[in-house]
Amino acid sequence: MPRKIIIDTDMGVDDALALIFAAKLPEVQIDAVTTVSGNVHVDQATENALKILDVLGKKNVLVGRGAAKPLARSHVHSQEIHGRNGLGDSGLPEPQLRTVYDDGVGLLIQRVLAARKGEVTLVTIGPLTNVAQAFTREPRLADRLDRVVIMGGAYGLTRYGRGGNVTSEAEYNIYEDPEAAEIVFHSNARITAVGLDVTMNPSAALTRQHIDHLASKGTVVSDVIRKVTANMVSRWGLVYLHDPIAIAAAVDKTLLRTEKHMVDIDVTEKGIGRTTIIRRDESSSATGHEIDIAVNIDAKRFIDMFLEAVASS
Ligand code: BDR
Ligand code: CA
Repeated sequence: MPRKIIIDTDMGVDDALALIFAAKLPEVQIDAVTTVSGNVHVDQATENALKILDVLGKKNVLVGRGAAKPLARSHVHSQEIHGRNGLGDSGLPEPQLRTVYDDGVGLLIQRVLAARKGEVTLVTIGPLTNVAQAFTREPRLADRLDRVVIMGGAYGLTRYGRGGNVTSEAEYNIYEDPEAAEIVFHSNARITAVGLDVTMNPSAALTRQHIDHLASKGTVVSDVIRKVTANMVSRWGLVYLHDPIAIAAAVDKTLLRTEKHMVDIDVTEKGIGRTTIIRRDESSSATGHEIDIAVNIDAKRFIDMFLEAVASS
């Protein structure tokens, strides 16, 4: 039986790759996609999700438009990285008309409650605004999920996670809505955090050679991958697969090695979005529960898994 997942996304370039990857993995059934403001505004993120689902022929995946802004702050986009439209200004065809649920948070709650306890894994690849709202609106939700796999944070547990990618210390998804991250990290959900500690490992990134190899297949999907990644590849020569790694973590726990830690989310202006490990011996009054934090990735196996899935027909 494929694993049911819900993907909560801000639909930048690597989110698009994550959606394609998840849709192509036989081990996965995408139950719903909920969108959130992040890399781009939620309206653009929703349009991007529909465009990618159209390319994949996934007409029956439910889509819900979620939060337009973080819980307590203004929205800070990252169009300078992901392009004005979030998809590398790739000019994909307009999406076909379909129903979009206006209450993405409500859709998330409804789908999880409709499933058996532990049947759904939630994979978050954008800021945590929708999930925090869902956990607050429906307190039973966190425990109903198998787990939440969160792409977010920089934990300083490997050399790749010693710095952030927005400030010197903060990773984007946590920086964008730290108040939401605090609610989710301190909930009773079982959490696997996939942070920069593993996603910035260059051996787990998509290179120009990988993209050329995929493009030689001449499929619709390989063409979309080439288009959405073109700007990033011309600027940096590679594309970090932050969000696809979170999808992989949801289906194959053996790809990542994790450590259990408590985490503090910094919501102060000085350290906004910083994710700090609380060592047990440092503070006996530390609150919150331990989560699994990725500290190593079998990069070769992950890249092979990604390339094989996205190249499949
Ligand atoms: C995260 O931020 C976004 O720009 C990416 O899509 C990813 O989810 C990496 O820090
Ligand atoms: Ca993202």
